[in-house]
Amino acid sequence: MKSELDPTTLRRILEVTASLSRTLDLPEILTQLVDKGTYIVGAERGTVFLYDADRDRLRQHGYTGQVDPDALDLAPGQGIAGTVFQSGTAVYCEAPYEDPRFAAEVDARTGFRTRSILAVPLKGGNQRVIGVLQFLNKRQGNFDSQDLAAMELLAVQASIIIGNAELFAETENARKEILKESTRLTAQLRGNIVGESTWTSEFIELAGRLDESPINILITGESGTGKSHVAKHLHYTSSRCRKPFISLNCAAIPDTLLESELFGIESGVATGVQKKPGKIELADKGCLFLDEIGDLSLAAQAKMLQVIQERFFFRVGGRTPIKVDVRILSATNKDLESEIKESRFRQDLYYRLNVLNIPIPPLRDRREDIPPLVKAILRKACEEHNKVIQGVDDAVLEAFMEYSWPGNVRELENELYRMVALSARDTRLTTRWLSPKFAVSGGAALPAALGGGEGLQLSGHSSIPEAVKVVEAHLIRKALDETGGQKSRAADILEISRESLRQKMKKYGIA
Ligand SMILES: Nc1ncnc2c1ncn2[C@@H]1O[C@H](COP(=O)(O)OP(=O)(O)OP(=O)(O)O)[C@@H](O)[C@H]1O
Ligand SMILES: [Mg+2]
Repeated sequence: MKSELDPTTLRRILEVTASLSRTLDLPEILTQLVDKGTYIVGAERGTVFLYDADRDRLRQHGYTGQVDPDALDLAPGQGIAGTVFQSGTAVYCEAPYEDPRFAAEVDARTGFRTRSILAVPLKGGNQRVIGVLQFLNKRQGNFDSQDLAAMELLAVQASIIIGNAELFAETENARKEILKESTRLTAQLRGNIVGESTWTSEFIELAGRLDESPINILITGESGTGKSHVAKHLHYTSSRCRKPFISLNCAAIPDTLLESELFGIESGVATGVQKKPGKIELADKGCLFLDEIGDLSLAAQAKMLQVIQERFFFRVGGRTPIKVDVRILSATNKDLESEIKESRFRQDLYYRLNVLNIPIPPLRDRREDIPPLVKAILRKACEEHNKVIQGVDDAVLEAFMEYSWPGNVRELENELYRMVALSARDTRLTTRWLSPKFAVSGGAALPAALGGGEGLQLSGHSSIPEAVKVVEAHLIRKALDETGGQKSRAADILEISRESLRQKMKKYGIA
């Protein structure tokens, strides 16, 4: 059946393949392939089928002529195209209605009358058949060995191009998936600032204004207010966001190791010491976050000052100056101005680090942040505990709104994580799971005999009836906690009747 191709056909096939190679868009390639192939062999209709492994069907992609796209969805082995797909061998058929392999039902569905067929396999890597290129009804005469040879050659070239386009599409999809995932993770890591207080809105707006500015910022605030969180937000919303955010906790590292952690070390400084870059080097072009900066030793402060002023430093044991471009964010809950007065912190370094000060107010001074924080933290805690909890009861939120939060956002986070862990099949968190400290906040501690020393506090101005209520509510919660919620056993411990317990629970909103 093979024959030499005439030079005109050969030239046309080369032109088609050159044109197909100009795009990586698969639908465009398939449409062009069918159009040009139909023209070269002089057919009435052309179709390209690709195998869809998920559905185990041959799906029609590009075609010429008016065809209902679903009408040509074949099973492997069905019709001439299906046969070519299964055998991997071209078929050239002049009297289809006499050929048992022909699927006459397709003609019946499309209303087209097939007089002759030329079908060639498309083969991918390892000679695996990936689809079929099929032409129907030669306009003049019959398909001949020239047409067959031409389409076999076109199919070989087209298969390579289709394979590349498929690979490109797969890579592109994977790239998009990775991008989506990395955006999600970055959003998680970058410290999305949750809150509706004036302070939070103003901070978010300020961070937006600072995005291009590499100035050093000192973040201050009580423990747990969100200093590290704010530092991450500042970095990941800045123009340096694609460069590293390197964090160093100055309080957690002994003075002897701090220098090598910060500046790195050359090999051979001591026996067995390997060369290692320091945090400053790792943060080049990005941001170095010096947490608990108030704990940096005076010696390290002097070196830090030099890096900021000169923009270069030496590794421990090194002689070559290393240049860096680092933005420094630092945080402390110490009052650095009084540290300066006590000569524990260098004033010149303070001015370098504190080009801008962002003081974070304690949570008790921005209570509007509590409800949105509760929502966000609860969502995170539920994800981690694999639980479905819709929200917190109003009584819980009220207790949160009244509490003084000495441990700030971290304390709120801990409280909610604890409540989520303890809650059983609740759809909302109730006061039952609140820590005892929420009975009343502020004021004098309760004597140990009455359950004090466990966080229960009585307001300094409580009247006796008020104090009694607080103590009652506290003791009931404690008994319920101890008995895993069993009312009869809790009533026994409290030495009251079950009915009295039920009434008191109702009175105090204990679910
Ligand atoms: N505005 C906020 N939105 C969402 N989460 C927050 C916010 N502020 C703080 N958090 C969360 O609260 C927790 C405590 O915050 P962070 O560790 O940043 O506080 P900190 O001030 O650095 O504490 P420390 O003084 O102990 O270093 C973290 O889990 C943080 O993600
Ligand atoms: Mg911190």
